[in-house]
Amino acid sequence: MRTLLLSFLMLLSALQCTKKSDSIAASSSAVKEFSAAERAQLPLVSKTFKESLLKEVSTRMSSEGPAAAVAYCHENALPLTDSIAKAHQLKIYRVSDKPRNSKNAPSTSELALINHYKEALLEGRKLKDSLSAGVYYSPLITSGACLKCHGTPDNLSPQALAVIKEKYPADKAAGYKEGEVRGLVVITPLP
Ligand code: HEC
Repeated sequence: MRTLLLSFLMLLSALQCTKKSDSIAASSSAVKEFSAAERAQLPLVSKTFKESLLKEVSTRMSSEGPAAAVAYCHENALPLTDSIAKAHQLKIYRVSDKPRNSKNAPSTSELALINHYKEALLEGRKLKDSLSAGVYYSPLITSGACLKCHGTPDNLSPQALAVIKEKYPADKAAGYKEGEVRGLVVITPLP
C-alpha cells in the first residue's frame, strides 16, 4: 500500500514537472516582452503612427480628391503600416469592430477592449493607452478628418463612397460621428 502511494506521489510530481516546463516553453515562445527602451517609446510610437496615417490621407485628399485617397488607402494602408512598423522594429496594426477591410477584424480580446473603451467614453472617462499581456493598445477616435470616408451619409463624400463600395463590398466602417471609438492601434514586439 505504502509503495503504491509512493509511486503515485512520484508520478504526480513528475506530471507537475512536465506541466511546469511545458508552460514555461509555451510562454517564452508565444509572448515576447518589450524591452525597457521599447516600452518607454510606445506612447510616442503610437502617436507618430496615427499622425503619419492622417497626414498621408489628408495630403491625398487635398491634392487628388476623395476617390483617389480611398484608392490610395486601399492599395497602401497595410504596406504603409508595415513600413512604419519596420522603422520602429515593432509589429503595428489597426483593428476595428466595424472593419472596412476584413483583414483588420479584431481578436476576441481586442474586441473586448474596444467595447471597454466605448463604455469609458460614454461614461465621460478619459481614454488611456493600455499595456496588457505584453501588447500595447491605443484607442483610435474619429475626428472631423475621418468623416468623408467613415461618416454618416450627410458628411460621407459621394466620390469616396463610390470607390469604397467598389473596393469594399462588405464595408462596415461608415456611419461614424466625430469623437467615437473607431478601433485600436495594436503594437507588439517583433516575433
Ligand atoms: C480617404 C478616405 C479615408 C479617410 C479620410 C480615413 N480613412 Fe480610415 N480607412 C479608409 C480605407 C479605404 C480603409 C481600408 C484600408 C485597408 O484596406 O486596409 C480604412 C481603414 C481604417 C482602419 C482599419 C480598420 C478597417 O476598418 O479596416 C481604421 C482604424 C481607420 N481607417 C481609421 C480612420 C481614422 C481614425 C480616420 C481619421 C483620422 C480615417 N480612418 C480616415 C479610408 C479613409
